Amino acid sequence: MEINKRKRILVTGGSGFIGTNFIRHTLHVKPDWDIVNLDSLTYAGNPHNFQDLKSDQSGRLHFVLGDVRNENLLSQLFSQNNFDSVVHFAAESHVDRSILGPKVFLETNVNGTFALLGESLRSWEDRKRPNDFRFLHVSTDEVYGSLGPHGYFTEETPYNPSSPYSASKAASDHFVKAYFHTYNLPAIITNCSNNYGPFQFPEKLLPLMILNIIEQKPLPIYGDGKNIRDWLFVLDHCEAILQVIERGVPGNTYNIGGNSERQNIDIVHLLCDLLDKRLGRSGKDTSRRLIRFVSDRPGHDRRYAIDATKIERELGWSPQFKFEEAINITLDWYLGNMAWVKSVRSGEYRKWIEDNYEDRENLSI
Ligand code: NAD
Ligand code: TYD
Repeated sequence: MEINKRKRILVTGGSGFIGTNFIRHTLHVKPDWDIVNLDSLTYAGNPHNFQDLKSDQSGRLHFVLGDVRNENLLSQLFSQNNFDSVVHFAAESHVDRSILGPKVFLETNVNGTFALLGESLRSWEDRKRPNDFRFLHVSTDEVYGSLGPHGYFTEETPYNPSSPYSASKAASDHFVKAYFHTYNLPAIITNCSNNYGPFQFPEKLLPLMILNIIEQKPLPIYGDGKNIRDWLFVLDHCEAILQVIERGVPGNTYNIGGNSERQNIDIVHLLCDLLDKRLGRSGKDTSRRLIRFVSDRPGHDRRYAIDATKIERELGWSPQFKFEEAINITLDWYLGNMAWVKSVRSGEYRKWIEDNYEDRENLSI
């Protein structure tokens, strides 16, 4: 009888939003996987996200505090661990922050990916190029730029990034592709749409609006509120990543989407209505009154929409959660985890809210 070999996976940025969900999901569904989480714990990383794990799962998770750009540390980690695969989430991830301070996006997203590629390649070659090693680079649909009212991003859509964030992700994607073509490193890229779900840092649209509605603060909508994003529940994304690690073809890109295009304003209306119902608010207290149309984000992409036919056809993955169902799960999570919210809204968070919103017109309540 063949006994399944245990797998040891390096996850970078595992203390952020998607990484946390990925690690928690993977420990649950892959009992023969051990995970090393390398994270430098920027404002977006939370060391407490795994505190509640049961010992059979926490014993398979090892945390390393460190920077993905630190080649000496990476070299040590790879030689100590012989990783079977790498899942690379670590990045600066917020478009508005990239507008106010682009440099760290270049440094983390490009140099960090470059350092990780180099050490992954060295380790893979030292170990005589194991066939099943995968370098999975988690990227974004934003590398493709902005769509008009029609059409979808496919894996063949030319790159056309607009923000410093998407430019840095596009550059890192090109390095990943180059390491496959030049050195045969078995690398795969996934480009996904906007994720939502538990543990998302409250600077992004959904958690920011959820918390502002709960606390009855103004709801800042950029521009006319008609920008469209495709929304992907984070657990659907995590499952897609697992399928790509196990069955994806090296050198390929897979687009991952939620088949849930929505205008920002419609999402905010929905959140207001669902939370009002839960919190028993009606009449003059309804939360839609908190909506404020504020000055637009510079270079604001109008629409993103993913054609996820390839991953569906080749790997049999499709999103399992309906948008309204997963929004309700997300709302319940935030309502039930206000202590988590309090812990991540540190002094740094308050400064960010001031920097990003104080000069926008029309934000008074
Ligand atoms: P996040 O900002 O919530 O988390 C990023 C994590 O990376 C944090 O834990 C942070 O501490 C860590 N990190 C940052 N710089 C680091 C460094 N130099 N060394 C080590 N760790 C570092 O991001 P997220 O929303 O979880 O996104 C994860 C990945 O998915 C990113 O690569 C992002 O570009 C991509 N992505 C995200 C979305 C989304 O909707 N959130 C959509 C598409 C793609
Ligand atoms: P965001 O969550 O920052 O994700 P991304 O820019 O990567 O798509 O923003 C989602 C959409 O919501 C985007 O069109 C910008 C808009 N938005 C607002 O209208 N107000 C806000 O306060 C924020 C943070 C975003």
